[in-house]
Amino acid sequence: MIINRFRKRKDLKLSINYNVILQNQFKMMQFSKTLIYWYLQNKRELPWRTTKNPYFIWLSEIMLQQTRVAQGLVYYLKFTETFPTVFDLANADESMVLKLWQGLGYYSRARNLHFSAKYIAENLGGKFPSTYNDLLQLKGVGDYTASAIASICFDEATAVVDGNVYRVLARYFGIKTPINASKGIKEFKKLAQTLIDTSQPGVFNQAIMDFGALHCKPQNPLCETCPLVDSCIALEKKIIKELPVKEKKLRVRNRFFNYLVVVTEDDKTILTERKGKGIWQGLYQFPLLESSKKLNEKDVILSEEFTQLFPTETTISLFNTNEIVHKLSHQHLYTSFWIVKISRLSAAKISWKNIQKYPVPVLIANFLTKFEATN
Ligand code: ADE
Repeated sequence: MIINRFRKRKDLKLSINYNVILQNQFKMMQFSKTLIYWYLQNKRELPWRTTKNPYFIWLSEIMLQQTRVAQGLVYYLKFTETFPTVFDLANADESMVLKLWQGLGYYSRARNLHFSAKYIAENLGGKFPSTYNDLLQLKGVGDYTASAIASICFDEATAVVDGNVYRVLARYFGIKTPINASKGIKEFKKLAQTLIDTSQPGVFNQAIMDFGALHCKPQNPLCETCPLVDSCIALEKKIIKELPVKEKKLRVRNRFFNYLVVVTEDDKTILTERKGKGIWQGLYQFPLLESSKKLNEKDVILSEEFTQLFPTETTISLFNTNEIVHKLSHQHLYTSFWIVKISRLSAAKISWKNIQKYPVPVLIANFLTKFEATN
């Protein structure tokens, strides 16, 4: 009798666990189906959504990283028109690629794109890798991009996890693990992988990204009209604004840039290519004097860099009285443009009329626009 009772309790416990698993599985399936249903009615009509050509999907996915769709779209159209195939991109000069990329930021993406295009054209006969693992071998392609291309172009069930996906999952499942720590990265990827609709992985991936971008927005999400309103944990617990959780960021580094903008009487200037592994590698800039604090006119004139470049007495004027603050992810660049008018200088070889041909950081492009308007 006692034994029987015990057995019954154990059975009961087992069946409760089984029920929980079934309920969870049902919830997950509902989540995916609801998202896809929402997507089919609300998706954004975008040019890369009418193709499965991996070259186009690759371009769009690289461009959309850290970039809003509206901005990425302009660059996508420019790139696909100028380089309609991977061979066209592979055969282009790097400076041409960087020039077209100008303004999109994170220039290593453009350099990697160009490098990988050459690799695909020269080593793979132009045929794009077609699995998640093979895609990962391309320079500049990480988990996110490989998952997007593999799922959209080749129907491989690999879940994408970008900022939008983190937000949707963190809120819907009420997950507080920081999304920028390795534990969170693994946990969210695993969850997304269990949720993906294996019969239409590309549609699921784009559905969850669009849902995050358009509906479950960072600020003011549209909870009143949300198709997941009945089962969203963050909404139930009133913690929408707290999710997703991010660990405190690294301290921002302040840098002080003084550009020396030479203008000679025969209308020449100096632009040099940035070498090394920095953010703007391969882009062009005016001679740069970097300092640890804001400099005044005297500091600039007495600096070693200035006296080396201009051995004879030279006057300068400040173009922007207020420093221009250019914000990058971990650095703030406090920038001054110093105009150096001089009769002749052998180092000044670049004609002002050709300056637009050079790929420059957007900070310098903005200066050029203003400078040319005032001259
Ligand atoms: N963000 C980046 N790629 C995307 C895609 N394919 N669909 C929706 N949002 C995206």
